[in-house]
Amino acid sequence: MWRLKSIDAILETAERRPLSRSLGPIQLMLLGIGSVIGTGIFVLTADAAQLAGPGMMVSFCIAAAVCAATALCYAEIASMVPVSGSAYTYTYAVMGEVCAWLVGWALILEYAVSASAVAVGWSGYLTGLLENSFGLHLPAAITESPSAGGIIDLPAVAISLMCTVLLVRGTRESATVNAVLVAIKIAILLVFTALAIPAIHDTNFHPFAPTGARGVVNAASSIFFAYVGFDAVSTAAEETRDPQRNVPIGLIGSLVICTLIYLAVAGTAIGAIGAQPVHGAAGALLDPGSREMADRCAQIASGAPMPLVCSKEALAYALREIGHPLVSGVMGLVAFIALPTVIITMIFGQTRIFFVMARDGLLPQVLCRIHDRYQTPHVVTWVTGAIITVGAAFFPVGQLADVSNSGTLFAFLLVAVALLVLRRKDPGRVRHFRTPMAWVIAPLAIVGCVVLFFFLPLAAKWVFPIWSAIGLVFYAAYGFRHSRMRPGAVLED
Ligand code: ALA
Repeated sequence: MWRLKSIDAILETAERRPLSRSLGPIQLMLLGIGSVIGTGIFVLTADAAQLAGPGMMVSFCIAAAVCAATALCYAEIASMVPVSGSAYTYTYAVMGEVCAWLVGWALILEYAVSASAVAVGWSGYLTGLLENSFGLHLPAAITESPSAGGIIDLPAVAISLMCTVLLVRGTRESATVNAVLVAIKIAILLVFTALAIPAIHDTNFHPFAPTGARGVVNAASSIFFAYVGFDAVSTAAEETRDPQRNVPIGLIGSLVICTLIYLAVAGTAIGAIGAQPVHGAAGALLDPGSREMADRCAQIASGAPMPLVCSKEALAYALREIGHPLVSGVMGLVAFIALPTVIITMIFGQTRIFFVMARDGLLPQVLCRIHDRYQTPHVVTWVTGAIITVGAAFFPVGQLADVSNSGTLFAFLLVAVALLVLRRKDPGRVRHFRTPMAWVIAPLAIVGCVVLFFFLPLAAKWVFPIWSAIGLVFYAAYGFRHSRMRPGAVLED
C-alpha cells in the first residue's frame, strides 16, 4: 500500500488515455476565479464578521497567505506533472498509494462538499429573490435542510442537477458560460466597492478586533472557504495547452485577483455599515448559524437596524443600508446567476479526480468511460452530480463549508510536503516553475494548514478523521486489490 507511482509512469498513463488539450491561460484563470468567488464572499462574510468583527480583514489576509504559499507549491508540482488529479496525483508519486488514496478521498470533501455548500447558498439567494422581488414565498419544507426545520432543499437539488448536465455536455461549452458569469460577478463586486467607498466611516473600524487574536484566526479558518477552489486549475492541467507555463499563471493569477477583490469588498462593507459581532444576553459571543444567534438577531432587528452579521445576504443588505436598493436587487440577481459557476468548476474538478483515480484502478473502471458524442467522462460526472445533490438536499451551508475546509486543508498540506520531498528525491527533474524560497514557503504552508485546521469548529474537525477511516475501509476492500500498481497487474487500457 506504500507503492509509489513514478512521475514518468504518471505521465505515461496520462498519454495512454488522453483528454483533449483545449484550455489556455485566460480560460484557466477564469476557471480559478469562477470556482473561488462565490458563497464565501456573498454569504459567509457575515459569519466571519461575527467571529472577528472588522478584524475579519486580517482573517482574509491570513487565509489568503496560506493559500498563496500552497498555490506556489501547487504551481511547481503542476509544472512538473501536468496531468489531471491534482494533489492526489502528486501524492501518489511522492508518498505512496495509501496516502494518495486518502488525499483523493479528502478531495471529495473539498470539491463535492463545497459544490453542495454553494448550491445551498444559491438556494438561499433564490428564495430571498423570489420573496423580496416577486412576493413569492416558498415553504421552508422544500427550501431548508432538516436541521434548519425543512425536509429537503429542492432549489439546491435543481441547481446541482443542472450544473451536472452542463458538464456532461462538454468542457468547452461550460467554460464559455463560466467566462461570461465570472465577468458579471467581478463587475458587481467592483460596483459594490465603488458605491460603498463614499459611505465609509472610520468609527466603523473600532474596535477592530473585538474577539481578539483567537477570533481573527477562527474567522480565517471559516473564511478560508472563500478561497477554496483555486486549485481546480491544477486539476485541468491535462486539458491545458502548454501546461508548464499556463497552470502556474492560472493558479497564482486567480488567487491574486480574488484576494484583492475580497479585501476591497470586505473593507468597504465594514467601513460603510460596521461589522461588530452580536452577543447573547449574558454577554457571550454567539455562534454564527446557531439558533441563539438567529433569535438574538430577530430581537435586535425589531428595534434597530439589523447588524451586518445577522444578514444572510451580507452584500445586498449593505447596499440597501447605504441607499442603493436597486443595485442591491442586482447583487441578489448576480449571486443567483453566478454562484452556479462555482458549482460547475467544483464538479469539474471532482470528476477529473475521480477519473484519474479510476484510471489508476483505485475506483471502478466504468467511471473512465468517455461519452461518444460529447467526449466527456460522463459516467463519473453523473456519479459526482448525484453525490453533490444529496449533500445539497439535506445539509446547511455553514456546516458544509467547514467540512469542506477540513478536507481541503489536508490536501493542501500534503501538496506542500510533496514539494519538499520531490526537491530532495528528484532534484534533477525539469521544473518549468520553481517555487521561490521553497524551504521557507512550503513549511509556512504546512504550518498554516495545521493552524487553520485546529481553529475550525469541533464538528468539522471530527468529520475529517471519520471520513478518512471510511476511506481506508473502501481502499482495503477495492482499491488495494484493483490498483494498476499491484504486483502482476496488466497495464491494459
Ligand atoms: N470559494 C468558493 C466559494 O466561496 C468555494 O463559494
